[in-house]
Amino acid sequence: MKATILDVAELAKVSKATVSRVINNKNNVSGEVRERVIQAIKELGFRPSGIARSLVHRKTKSLGLILPDITNPFFPALARGVEDAAHRYGYTVFLCSTDNEPEIERGYIDKLEEQQVEGIVLISSDKQLTHELQNMSIPFVLCDRWSNSSPIDIVTVDHYRGAYEAVEYLLNLGHQFIAHIAGPPNVQSAEKRKMGYTDAIIKAGLEPFVRHGSFSYESGYQVMASLLQEGHPTAVFAANDLMALGAIQAIEDAGLSVPRDIAIFGCDDIFVAQISKPPLSTIMQPAYQMGVCALEMLHERIEGLREEPKKIILEHRLVIRHSCGGGLK
Ligand code: RIB
Repeated sequence: MKATILDVAELAKVSKATVSRVINNKNNVSGEVRERVIQAIKELGFRPSGIARSLVHRKTKSLGLILPDITNPFFPALARGVEDAAHRYGYTVFLCSTDNEPEIERGYIDKLEEQQVEGIVLISSDKQLTHELQNMSIPFVLCDRWSNSSPIDIVTVDHYRGAYEAVEYLLNLGHQFIAHIAGPPNVQSAEKRKMGYTDAIIKAGLEPFVRHGSFSYESGYQVMASLLQEGHPTAVFAANDLMALGAIQAIEDAGLSVPRDIAIFGCDDIFVAQISKPPLSTIMQPAYQMGVCALEMLHERIEGLREEPKKIILEHRLVIRHSCGGGLK
């Protein structure tokens, strides 16, 4: 039969109120009594609430996942990977959206520390934040993007290489004026893609033409609409699918057509990319697998199964659809 708080009180020779005070981490309990109660909880296998469990075993079985924007379809796929892997180890995951704001990221880390999470999966480019986390001794893994070369756990893809290959594909279609709708300047994945675009364009003897968005659909629309006032690229590489889809809408609203007038290439391969009109060419990033890998690495840290830092670079892949004229529908 399941042990009760009364059984614990009797075995520890204290009142139920004292057991409750220990479980709720109240200060007015002597160390000797606290240990006697915790010992009784362990001996009886008393299944206390989450808070009580953390007192007895110093484990809350909870984790934090800090990411920029859960409304961007790339991140729910990643979050689901984290959650499915976490569930296998009995963890609960707290989800925190930060809009790439370091102060919001910092605030969530403080809250997660208060909750005594056992580890954090962090998607952030903030160098200072990473250093602060390293000094807080909370196990963490950087996912998708990273801020410096310090020896930390990272799982990501080669953002630079993917962008370079996408632009090479457009060059091979014969495009001579390829614009880039870049992501936010403070985001490492966006910066790496801009570098890949720029190097491929310069290697082809062409002029880079870059305008910055914010990774949102609306920013892709706005940047494309104003870009069309400046000139008429025959192709656009957008640093993520939401901006690519916004660009397509802006082109259509300007009375032009994709891919007849302008080819569009995105990045992420979110679900909508395959059903958009036209279906979007993009760089597939294994978001779900990235989430699973991040959680597995975090679990190794929490359980002390690994000391040395690990860096996993997952495979990306170009997915050619009709938005740049070539390939499958
Ligand atoms: O769409 C959001 C972008 O932010 C993705 O490309 C992902 O790489 C992340 O960096």
